[in-house]
Amino acid sequence: MNKIEFMLNGEKIEVWANAHKTLLELLREDLGIKSPKCGCDLGDCGACTVFLDGKSVRSCLILVPEVNGCDVVTLEGIMRPNLTKLQQFFLDHNSFQCGFCAPGMVLSATELLQKNPTPTLEEIKEGLSGNLCRCTGYTPIINAVADAVATTVATTINE
Ligand code: FES
Ligand code: FES
Repeated sequence: MNKIEFMLNGEKIEVWANAHKTLLELLREDLGIKSPKCGCDLGDCGACTVFLDGKSVRSCLILVPEVNGCDVVTLEGIMRPNLTKLQQFFLDHNSFQCGFCAPGMVLSATELLQKNPTPTLEEIKEGLSGNLCRCTGYTPIINAVADAVATTVATTINE
């Protein structure tokens, strides 16, 4: 067992964990953080996406010792106390059906817009290409992000 200290959604966490445990397992099984989902456990689906030191990672591929001293943020951490504007666009577009992919999609879209506030449609598709959705055909997800971009640009122009 290894003693691990890290920041989780702004709070200092201290845990003892097996070195072979993944961050996804630690979050879901030990810390009650349920937004990251286990879709494949192979790094393929993006359902387990979290931010690690500000960058999106697949938490099923990260071993717990790797997060020692790091800053981990999950969807729970970015929606306090309310939905973000981007999340509201997803809601308005009925972007998700079962919702399994939603946390990963929201984090990937958030990262995309942080890096590039005015992505083209192709850049939005590329930015979300690492997150798989088995329900929606992706259109309402992509439209929500595109609408968020268009609205932000329009608001800025009108200011
Ligand atoms: S569960 Fe991690 S990428 Fe699918
Ligand atoms: S809404 Fe079901 S997997 Fe995306």
